[in-house]
Amino acid sequence: MARAQSRLKVLSIFGTRPEAIKMAPLVKALEAEPGIDSRICVTGQHQSMLQQVLQTFDLKADYVLEVMTPGQTLNTLTAALYSAIDPVLEEMQPDRVLVHGDTTTAMVAAMSAFHRRIPIGHIEAGLRTGDIHQPWPEEMNRRSIDLIADHLFTPTAQARRNVLGERLQGKSFVTGNTVIDALQMTARRIEQNRQLRAALDRQFSFLLPERRMLLVTGHRRENFGDGFQDICQALRTLSQRDDIQIVYPVHLNPNVQGPVNEHLGGLPNVHLIEPLDYLSFVRLMQRAHVVLTDSGGVQEEAPSLGKPVLVMRDVTERPEAVEAGTVRLVGTHPESIVQGVSMLFDDALLWRSASQSSNPYGDGQACGRIVDVLMGRAVDEFVATPTARRSEATEALHQSMPLRSVRVH
Ligand code: UD1
Ligand code: UDP
Repeated sequence: MARAQSRLKVLSIFGTRPEAIKMAPLVKALEAEPGIDSRICVTGQHQSMLQQVLQTFDLKADYVLEVMTPGQTLNTLTAALYSAIDPVLEEMQPDRVLVHGDTTTAMVAAMSAFHRRIPIGHIEAGLRTGDIHQPWPEEMNRRSIDLIADHLFTPTAQARRNVLGERLQGKSFVTGNTVIDALQMTARRIEQNRQLRAALDRQFSFLLPERRMLLVTGHRRENFGDGFQDICQALRTLSQRDDIQIVYPVHLNPNVQGPVNEHLGGLPNVHLIEPLDYLSFVRLMQRAHVVLTDSGGVQEEAPSLGKPVLVMRDVTERPEAVEAGTVRLVGTHPESIVQGVSMLFDDALLWRSASQSSNPYGDGQACGRIVDVLMGRAVDEFVATPTARRSEATEALHQSMPLRSVRVH
């Protein structure tokens, strides 16, 4: 009984697919630590896309809130989250609240803890574009959380420099990104189990062996409207090539489903599929030739799998893989997307050089470091292996394409 009382009560609050994937290995590490009483609160900002992750990682939530409404606005979502989270804090009285990244769930959970003077740990702190409107509203969310967090778990040295430059009050640590822990755990499961691999591959029996695969994901709010029209136009053009097949697991946001189904539905070379569980998606990334995305997490995972990534944004808060040459910003202009993809499909040398596996985001040990910090133990911080200079071929790609800035603070 005395021991139970002295354990640190840690509440992890998350609500969307990427938060769940990135928090899953950390929750496992917290549960394995005898000095910690770990509980999970899922807000249900996402529903089926969150459930997929909980099942894949076999996570059992202690508190389940169900805030999602179809086509939710940021303000109604925010209001629902405040009302739903506060009673959980009241009941559990945690010693620490952990939040992840830059979602509305993370921002409201952190603010709710702050209002109750509960110390906050921010996982994936310090990423910045420097533009409050990109990504929107995530840049504001992440900065707000960093302002009030007691522990800032920054994934890279650059992210830590960002928070040090802002003279924030919290203490910062370079941990690596927990997504690499999740990815390595998942890739190992696929690697070690031939039957599982075969079952995963059976879902993709529509793929033709003679065509190389372009894997697409996209869902950013700042791309809604014209951005998505342009992305679809680019994909229509690319689908006319007879050496490419496009696979696009379509995010459930109605602002994404609408234009994507309208403009790409029924095209013979474009496979629009449901959002995949994480095991299936990692397998699909492994089989892709090139990845085209506006996702934050995919930008971090694909370079680790040695896949060239084209990012449909004008700025990124994840400059490290751009500097290493595996990620290239192409914005949402149809011409720029078509040109970027075509170059990687047509130029084998360029593809080889952009597909050098790089791990600027972590070494798979981030969760252990975060637990060490929470337990007050000494931490051996993450140091990325120095990135190789861009090869001549990737340099040529960057030079030949419309200039897009990568702001580094
Ligand atoms: C949210 C996050 C974004 C993150 C993304 C990951 C905010 C403001 N945005 O954006 O940072 O990159 O998740 O995917 O926090 N929906 C479903 N079922 C689901 C999930 C979503 O039907 O399982 C639909 C609903 O109609 C919902 C809509 O998608 O209202 C939007 O969900 P929301 O979480 O508000 O925004 P995302 O665009 O998913
Ligand atoms: N992902 C997934 N299934 C899919 C598409 C993506 O499991 O069909 C994973 C992907 O590997 C990454 C995360 O979901 O870890 C990215 O989520 P999303 O793009 O929704 O959000 P973002 O990373 O942009 O915040």
